[in-house]
Amino acid sequence: MSQLIVSGMRPTGKLHLGHYLGVIQNWVELQHKYDSYFFVADWHALTTKYDKTDELKADVLNVAMDWLAAGIDPNISTVYVQSYVPEIAELNVYLGMVTPQNWVERDPTLKDMAKILRTKEGQNSQISYGLMGYPVLMSADILMMNADAVPVGVDQVAHIEITRDIARRFNNIYNTDFFHEPQPILNHCSLICGLDGNKMGKSFHNDIKISDTEEVTAKKIMTAITDRSRMRKTDLGHPDECEVAFKYWKIFGSEDQVATVKCECENGERGCADCKRQLGAVINERLSEIREKRVYYETHIDEVKDILSEGNKKARKRASEVLATVRDLVRMY
Ligand code: TRP
Repeated sequence: MSQLIVSGMRPTGKLHLGHYLGVIQNWVELQHKYDSYFFVADWHALTTKYDKTDELKADVLNVAMDWLAAGIDPNISTVYVQSYVPEIAELNVYLGMVTPQNWVERDPTLKDMAKILRTKEGQNSQISYGLMGYPVLMSADILMMNADAVPVGVDQVAHIEITRDIARRFNNIYNTDFFHEPQPILNHCSLICGLDGNKMGKSFHNDIKISDTEEVTAKKIMTAITDRSRMRKTDLGHPDECEVAFKYWKIFGSEDQVATVKCECENGERGCADCKRQLGAVINERLSEIREKRVYYETHIDEVKDILSEGNKKARKRASEVLATVRDLVRMY
């Protein structure tokens, strides 16, 4: 029997290259080795944006389309929407009962989220009961499928540790070894920075979306920071001090291309504008297939919805089996 993995993403809107290179590409590889469950964490989106739900429906579909375009194959992976698997909410109740309050209070990721929320919304912003429960709900997502492993970024590892703790505690209390203690699988990500050199993020307006057109991508690349000390094309360049463009070359270019760029830049034979024009073309080439698929799904939205309802069904089947055992172990009526 192959091992089972589960992972999710909050529906934050159209995904960018940071998501693609850092997370999705990893999932695309893993789906061939594991029985894979990938879901859109729409309840988790509510933990901080319960009052901003206008775009929620569209965001769920956008995330799903980005995944499918990027190569998540619904014939081998189960792709579903968290809130369509209500068994997760019930499991969340049982797990909440066995989770000591100070475990969630100590969760470093939650502390960070609370901090961000306070800076965005001011001191008056309340941390809701739902947000406090973020780590328990995430444990419910994972234990719902009784997963063996969870592919995540380093920022999520603390959450996986709480999940393991909760699984162990449940097993102890109910005298069972039913729940696996899931291991994190770290994304071996090539961290891509934003166009301004900072972390790529939607809210920083420095990202390139998977769904951006070639024109938009080319335009955005022209704004990428280069070697700040370089004024003229004939100035000798310093690729290692080129804050963004050369880093992108290293991610998207072939070895030969990177060597050529480096050499020409250092010898003052390549201007930054020309360099970025070429880079834009290289990135567009690399993404062309994904974008074609993205457009296909945008124009066949019913197909996307069908894929999700199929996935929801498959996920619920597994979830209800796990839940039946859990109810039994807890000795519910
Ligand atoms: N917390 C994750 C994030 O912000 C999203 C998530 C929710 C998740 N539930 C999960 C990831 C379960 C892995 C497994 O990225």
